[in-house]
Amino acid sequence: MRRKLAAGNWKMHGTGADLAEIATLARTHADPACEVLICPPATLIERAAREVRGSALMIGAQDCHSAPQGAHTGDISAAMIRDAGAGHVILGHSERRQDHAETSAVVHAKATAALHAGLITIICLGETLADRERGATLDVIGQQLAGSTPDAARGENTVIAYEPVWAIGSGHVAHPDQIAEVHGFLRERLAHRFGTGVAAMIRLLYGGSVKPANAAGIFAIPDVDGALVGGASLRAESFSPVISALE
Ligand code: G3H
Repeated sequence: MRRKLAAGNWKMHGTGADLAEIATLARTHADPACEVLICPPATLIERAAREVRGSALMIGAQDCHSAPQGAHTGDISAAMIRDAGAGHVILGHSERRQDHAETSAVVHAKATAALHAGLITIICLGETLADRERGATLDVIGQQLAGSTPDAARGENTVIAYEPVWAIGSGHVAHPDQIAEVHGFLRERLAHRFGTGVAAMIRLLYGGSVKPANAAGIFAIPDVDGALVGGASLRAESFSPVISALE
């Protein structure tokens, strides 16, 4: 049975004052029926991890370098993330693919390093509006999945997040039929590569304008095992109902 996961991606938002949101979530969801993860900016990981100690909430990072250490100014390694108290890392988010020209090969190298360090990876995939309009959605998703996911991926160490680029931060959530098609395709591709047993254990998250008002509808779609939430995860009052919709 796949455990549902509500993951919040704070992106480049949040300073020490915002740790109160995490404290509130940890209190409100003391015994959640699903997993709850917050990925704050790197500057807050250690303090956030301290904040959730003793609670069910988990803390993750938003990126890591593929090398274990070295001359990479401004980057952080998977081992550093572990050392700071996080257990997960988001990789290949479309904002990184766009802003930092990250290819699936780069994401694959980062995921390999993260798994080696014992982190759970959340590998993000998603088509642009142009991809969708030219009918290439499944081709793009299939290539990103194959190129970004290491052979060592298993249910316990890997989560896949489908985030249509046009749905991120836009208020335009994908239609349930579009989500169902891509998630069904992902499950089928994972089964083809890893076998049905492994594929059945890898969680598939949807991301893109998930809000309290639409969360329950999205979570009712087959093969949706939770959400990767941006804007609505920044405040406990908006993330909490999303978590509750998953429980
Ligand atoms: O990682 C999260 C996604 O990019 C979704 O962001 O919920 O603000 O649309 P959003």
